[in-house]
Amino acid sequence: MQTTPSNTKLSTTKTLLVTAGLAVAIFAAGCGNDDEADLANGKQLFVEKCGACHTMARAEAAKGVAGPNLDDAFIQARNDGMDDATIKSVTLGQIKHPSQRVPAAARMPADIVTGMDARDVAAYVGYAAGREGKDEGDLAKAGQPAVSDKTVKADSSNTLQIDADPTGATLYQAGKATAAAGLVNLIMDNPSSVPHNIAVKGAGVDEKGDVVGKGGTSKVSAKLKAGEYTFYCTVPGHEAGGMKGTLKVS
Ligand code: HEC
Repeated sequence: MQTTPSNTKLSTTKTLLVTAGLAVAIFAAGCGNDDEADLANGKQLFVEKCGACHTMARAEAAKGVAGPNLDDAFIQARNDGMDDATIKSVTLGQIKHPSQRVPAAARMPADIVTGMDARDVAAYVGYAAGREGKDEGDLAKAGQPAVSDKTVKADSSNTLQIDADPTGATLYQAGKATAAAGLVNLIMDNPSSVPHNIAVKGAGVDEKGDVVGKGGTSKVSAKLKAGEYTFYCTVPGHEAGGMKGTLKVS
């Protein structure tokens, strides 16, 4: 993912953003310009980078549950008159300086997206959170979960190494795998700060490896006949977000 240097003006104003009453003033001071924001890019990134932990109905593939449902988080404020720009400012603040209310292991990592990408994601949340209805036009098409085109082949011990995306996206580094019939081993290293695992299902099989945090390794083995299976992450919302792939056994 491309990154641009973070905007220091935004980071210094952030501390104020949590005080919702001041957010409008900060927006007026130049915190963001919705005319320039690319909502489709924001939605795509939201699904890939935020959907691991958040659900928001308009971003249909974002079904994570480790963090708050963002419709629930903002619907009351929106109904009370909070506008898109203010929700955007609050979101940008949360991206740069995540709230520390929850225990460290369950916290939202800082700077998952930066620069223009952060602005686009925040603008999309500002537009979509707690807003009834569905996205239309080009925006409706954005936000399809990404799956890697890469294929991995099982090694001589019929073991597949399929690692999680290092940025915390709901993505494996390979989306296709091939192995021989018999005992198949799947191994996933997790270099990201979002918990993940590897599991395999299909043809009556459903075997799950342990969910592991950063630096952990999830392993699962299953006796598989020839056929097509799905490898996936069982953390709620992650398969829907694209953390899956096809395993061909022959
Ligand atoms: C690893 C899980 C995780 C990821 C990934 C994540 N978040 Fe969060 N997020 C959380 C948690 C947990 C909280 C609640 C923090 C708290 O209450 O202290 C939260 C809170 C929020 C809030 C505040 C909601 C409220 O109730 O005030 C917003 C807005 C938000 N996240 C947006 C995002 C965006 C945008 C992204 C992607 C760039 C993102 N999050 C990625 C876990 C995550």
